[in-house]
Amino acid sequence: MSAIHILYGTETYNSESLAQRTSDALSQAGYSVEIWDMDDIEPEAFAQLGVVLLITSTFGDGEPPSNAQVLYDYLMAEERAQLTGLQFSVCGLGDTDYEHFCQCGKDFDARLHDLGGSRFAPRVDCDTDYEDTWEHWLETVLQGLPNTDIQLADYSVDMGASGVLDSVVDRHASGSLSGSNKPVASGVFRPSAPIGTRKNPYLATVLANTNLNHSASDKETRHIALNIEAAGIEYRAGDALGVFPRNCPDLVRRILKAVGIERDEAVRADDNWYTIRDMMLYRKDVMQIDRRLVELLSRHAVGDAFGALLNDKKALLDYCGQQHVIDLVEAARVRVPAQDFLATLRPLAPRLYSISSSPEAYPNEIHLTVNVLRYALHDSMRKGVASTFLAERTGPGVEVAVYLQRTRNFLLCADHVPIIMIGPGTGIAPFRAFLQEREARGASGQSWVFFGSLHQSMDFLYRDELLGWDRDGLIARLDLAWSRDQAHKVYVQHKMYENGAAFYRWLDAGAVVYVCGDKTKMAKDVHKTLLRIIQEFGGYSRDDAHAYVSQLESDGRYLRDVY
Ligand SMILES: Cc1cc2nc3c(=O)[nH]c(=O)nc-3n(C[C@H](O)[C@H](O)[C@H](O)COP(=O)(O)OP(=O)(O)OC[C@H]3O[C@@H](n4cnc5c(N)ncnc54)[C@H](O)[C@@H]3O)c2cc1C
Ligand SMILES: Cc1cc2nc3c(=O)[nH]c(=O)nc-3n(C[C@H](O)[C@H](O)[C@H](O)COP(=O)(O)O)c2cc1C
Repeated sequence: MSAIHILYGTETYNSESLAQRTSDALSQAGYSVEIWDMDDIEPEAFAQLGVVLLITSTFGDGEPPSNAQVLYDYLMAEERAQLTGLQFSVCGLGDTDYEHFCQCGKDFDARLHDLGGSRFAPRVDCDTDYEDTWEHWLETVLQGLPNTDIQLADYSVDMGASGVLDSVVDRHASGSLSGSNKPVASGVFRPSAPIGTRKNPYLATVLANTNLNHSASDKETRHIALNIEAAGIEYRAGDALGVFPRNCPDLVRRILKAVGIERDEAVRADDNWYTIRDMMLYRKDVMQIDRRLVELLSRHAVGDAFGALLNDKKALLDYCGQQHVIDLVEAARVRVPAQDFLATLRPLAPRLYSISSSPEAYPNEIHLTVNVLRYALHDSMRKGVASTFLAERTGPGVEVAVYLQRTRNFLLCADHVPIIMIGPGTGIAPFRAFLQEREARGASGQSWVFFGSLHQSMDFLYRDELLGWDRDGLIARLDLAWSRDQAHKVYVQHKMYENGAAFYRWLDAGAVVYVCGDKTKMAKDVHKTLLRIIQEFGGYSRDDAHAYVSQLESDGRYLRDVY
């Protein structure tokens, strides 16, 4: 008799969170479940897992997330044992803004089937609003689960993640609750994992936190310098840094007040006791509403305030997508038990930031270039969790839990090769690193930079460095697009087209094109302009221009790091 094995491949916790929720639902239905980080599965043991639910995101350019790579490579290798005893279903997470939508989920699904596994529920491909699709998948999984050999739960045994995962690192003792730990950051950490990895983040000390924009600008971009001297982290230009943020203390205070919970109330998580306040500061997403929160409030509310919402799936999804936890709890004003409340909050995900320094120039430091997110919603100002944590609540001496997210292909090419870097806004970050690296190495290849933002006078990030490199010849060409300095909007793609003849000559001479920054608009417009330049200045037909760009991609000469 065996349990159902839920395997997750994740980079930013969405799949892990869905794995946990899938486990909760299956446990409630009476099944025995084990959750596994794909990294913790011995690939050779995979064939013996029996019933497998595989939940995975896709990262990079259609690649597996890093914790899925070993299992992925093992299964994709030519000679593989048959998986005839395996019964499986795949839930892929992705984003239709990327060309290779849910590719990793699709690859696993096809390969497990090819190797003889039996697909008992069809794969789903979830876009960024994954709730509905995941729920649909869960329903088909519950209907289709093979009932022959699955162990029903023994409720005397502690099931789920805690049986598989180790306990939280207790590097900080909390003074507020006797014998308890402060959960340093979100996630379940393993002290045995290499330091500076997602499973064992490094507490880096902030050296500097400065505003790169003029104080009168509509934008705020922070230059954050971190000391990594003692970490033994070896990074490369092009890598990103994962930051475990801490939630806004004032927001946590307001939420706790609204649900009638004392901040020092003890709650249990991963076999440890914490104060609810610490859990909410470090470990829980206190922005996004999960349906379980609406259900909890409904159970404790007087009357049937939430009945209509809970009975209308679409309305509930819309509501959860448009409101934050604070909106719901302040409107409801319902007292709930602390432990139950905690269970309705999702894990707080780390955020990634492109590293804007080169180890050649700063071997003991990592620099980040962080756009501070603040926006109005329902007539009140909201704050991006990580960007405002870094901007407002860090400064010299403050420790931040970080890990290195290695890039697989967004790497600086050989010194003699010409490069074109297109990075408006914070997209400039990795290119500052590339330029520092080329300067330190005395690289002979030419470098062309496209940068842009709102106003030249207020939003020219790293102005002195870029102009200095332009003067010294490290930057052969610097093209700047200031969208609001004239009546009509000017963006980097306009500058590319304006210089289309030269752009094509660089391509023809073997230049590598790098794009970094906004995926929703900028990267798409840049892509279209690239095709247009190849057609108009290279004399290619539409189809041939597409083939030219595909060739650039497969030659590693068109690399994107967009988010
Ligand atoms: C590989 C990679 C590299 C990255 N590099 C950088 C970098 O170098 N610099 C950088 O600044 N960022 C970078 N990012 C983005 C970064 O990871 C964070 O996503 C970003 O800082 C926002 O995080 P946050 O916690 O501040 O905001 P969150 O708390 O995560 O809030 C973001 C959410 O707020 C909501 N939202 C935003 N605006 C509005 C609005 N106007 N109305 C309603 N809702 C809204 C949306 O739901 C959005 O998803 C990178 C991301 C990736 C994946
Ligand atoms: C840098 C980056 C690259 C991505 N690449 C892809 C991709 O190629 N295809 C895709 O479908 N989704 C892609 N995504 C979207 C993620 O798969 C999606 O956000 C998913 O919900 C993340 O789940 P996770 O938190 O479990 O990793 C990418 C996201 C980022 C930030």
